[in-house]
Order: sequence, then structure tokens, then C-alpha cells
Amino acid sequence: VRNGSTRDPRYRKGYERPRNVLSLHDIEEFNGNFPEFTRPKNVGSFSLDVHRNYQNDYSELRYLSMPPETSNSGSCKVRFDLRKGVSSVIEKDGESIRQKMLDDLLTWILQERKAEHPSIVDCNHPLKPLLVEFVCYRGLLTMLLSTPYESQENWTILATRFQNSIYFWQLKDNRRNEYNSNPKQQEMSIWGFKFEQYLCASSPEASPNPEEQLNTNAEFCCVLKARIGGHPLLYGAEVDAVTKESQPPFTDLRNFVELKTNRHISNERQHVSFKRFKSMKWWAQSFIVGIPKIVVGYRDDDGVVSRLETMDVDHLRKQSNDWWKSNICMNFCLQFLKFVKECIPKESNPNAHFIFEFDAMSRVITFRNEAGEAGNRNLLPSWYIQSMEN
Ligand code: A3P
Ligand code: MG
Ligand code: MG
Repeated sequence: VRNGSTRDPRYRKGYERPRNVLSLHDIEEFNGNFPEFTRPKNVGSFSLDVHRNYQNDYSELRYLSMPPETSNSGSCKVRFDLRKGVSSVIEKDGESIRQKMLDDLLTWILQERKAEHPSIVDCNHPLKPLLVEFVCYRGLLTMLLSTPYESQENWTILATRFQNSIYFWQLKDNRRNEYNSNPKQQEMSIWGFKFEQYLCASSPEASPNPEEQLNTNAEFCCVLKARIGGHPLLYGAEVDAVTKESQPPFTDLRNFVELKTNRHISNERQHVSFKRFKSMKWWAQSFIVGIPKIVVGYRDDDGVVSRLETMDVDHLRKQSNDWWKSNICMNFCLQFLKFVKECIPKESNPNAHFIFEFDAMSRVITFRNEAGEAGNRNLLPSWYIQSMEN
């Protein structure tokens, strides 16, 4: 260890690593053992209806309904036209969703805190504070897990500390911009939802109805609790479907599936591209919530799905080992959480915001102390803060 260490400026005597920067220059630094990660527990759920209103029920839960001719391995030939009815789709309003920030998850937290035996708060403390260190949506965790291998897209995370927890929100959604960049891209962003409609039913007895008008506002959200390297996290995740054999309540997401569309992979270049980039994002999104299977619909450029395949999330990881490593993803995520805890003062105002920015070009994450508001409103609304203080 001593040998060569003097050549590395970080270990020179008296040198202190700058505290406001987390570097991703050498991702081998994160190539240690996979950190401790407890199986994500499903601690609750809620629905968002077609008007995007919060519902404390299972109304938007969907059941996976594979075609009867599906093989034991979960593959099948089909003909799903993803453009069907696209002109009459009611699309969710991205801007108003961004305005709501964490509000739906916060509503769930307050509701759970009032329950008889709340599992997420410290009932021995007079204020009944949350028992978790971090609160966020799953998409943000997927993004963090992918960051060691991200070379194109920057991100900005807004964080606020309140009581013993840090709340995260992704400020800019680059993916959304990319989708909205042209009408063709916009149409394609609906295809994924149309695909769900072909395979999902509203009850275990019902069949999918692709004739129904599609409204992308509706979703079913699970709330999960897990620990990474000893740090407890609470996160909300929109989930696609559960298998017909299982009924609520769910203790974890082992019976849920993720649905994905993908263009047919027909040559070596596309195959490598899938293993290098897409497989990592797919793995990260499902692994972090404990979903074991992905049902993939392979489509052509005209939006016609002709084949279904069921992929094992863990197999996806194994077959891509030459391109990305899951321990690097998770160790980086853990280091980022530690970095955030170090950066944000323990006694900080719940209306103060702290900014973490990843620059893909320079491969560093920088921390900025942004006093007061960032954007139009605070991350934590006053109704949440007041309720938690009573
Ligand atoms: P595909 O992933 O099959 O393309 P998810 O797979 O995460 O459940 O998302 C469902 C679908 O939403 C996606 O299906 C895609 O069509 C669409 N989608 C995902 N992220 C999006 C974004 N940032 N903007 C617009 N549409 C998006
Ligand atoms: Mg989804
Ligand atoms: Mg999906």
C-alpha cells in the first residue's frame, strides 16, 4: 500500500481531499465488495388516478396477463400495434408533475405516521420523526446507480435536511427533454405505456383492453424501505404490474414485473450497445426495488411488437459483466449518500436547499450551498413540516 502511494496526490502528507467534490475519475475506486443491501421491504403503496389525484388504495394496481400461448420461459409471438389510438392518448403533464415534487410521497408518509402501528417512524420520540436517513423516488436511485458509467448526461439533485432525514429531488430530467425533443420521440414515449395496456388487466379475472383510451397519468406506487451500507432509505416507485397469483398487501416486490419495450436486436453493434448501456439502466431500476423479472416487448421502427421475452434481472447483470459492474454502481451510490451527509450541516433549516451537480464531461459531483428557495417552491411544503412537528 505504501509503495506508489506517495505518487498519488490524495495520499500526500497534509493533503486533504476537497470536501465539496466527489470524483468519478477512476471508477476502480468503487470496485470493492458489494455493499450491504437489505432486501427492499414494501411498507405501503398508493394510487394516482387519471387526474393525478392521490388515492389511498389499490385502484391503479395492474395484473400481468400474458397471452395464453406463452412458453414456460415467458416468451411468445404476438402482434401489438403500439400506435393504435395514439392520437387520442391523454398524456401526463410533465410540468405540473415537476411542480408537485415529492408531495405524493409526503402525503403517504403523513398518512402512515397517523396509522396505529407506523413502521417508518420512531414512536418512542415525542415528535415521531422518520426512522430513515434518506427519502426520494426510485428514479433518482436508478440515476445514481448508473452514474459511474454515465458519459453524456449531467444531473442536478436538490436536497433538504429536516429532522434526521435528507430529502432528495432531481431538478432537471434530461430524459424528459430528450423525449420531447421532436414529435417522433414524443410519440415513441407513449409506446411504452401502450405496451403496458396490451399486457395489464385491472383485476386477476379481467383481460387487458387495448381499445380503452390510454391515460398516462394513472399509476400505482409502492413505498419501499431498504438499507445500503447501514443507511436506511425510504423511496417511492411506480410499478408496472404484479402476477395474477399474488394479492395485496405485498411484503416485497418479488411477484412484480417491469415491462419494457426495445427495438429488435438484429446485429452485433446493437447487441453490444444493449449490454453496455440499456441493460445497466434496466438492471438498476428493477434491482433497487427487488423486482426479479422484466417482460420485454421487441418492436420494429413502426411500433409493432412481434415477440415477448421474460428476462431475469440477475441474469441481465451476469451477462453484462464485461461492460459494467453492479458493485461499482452500488458502492458509488453509497459513497454519494455519505458525501451528502458530510456536506449538509446537521442543524439546517428545512426550507434551505443544497445542490449536488454531476458534470459528465469533467466526471465530478460538486456541492453548492444554495440558501433559500431553488425554483418556484420549497422541496418540503409547509403542510408537511408543520404536521411532522406536531
Ligand atoms: P419503455 O421503457 O418501454 O420505453 P417504465 O419502463 O420506466 O415503466 O416507463 C414506462 C414508459 O414511459 C417507457 O416505456 C417510455 O415509453 C415512457 N417513459 C419513460 N421515461 C420517460 C420520460 N422521461 N419521458 C417520457 N416518457 C418516458
Ligand atoms: Mg413503469
Ligand atoms: Mg416499464
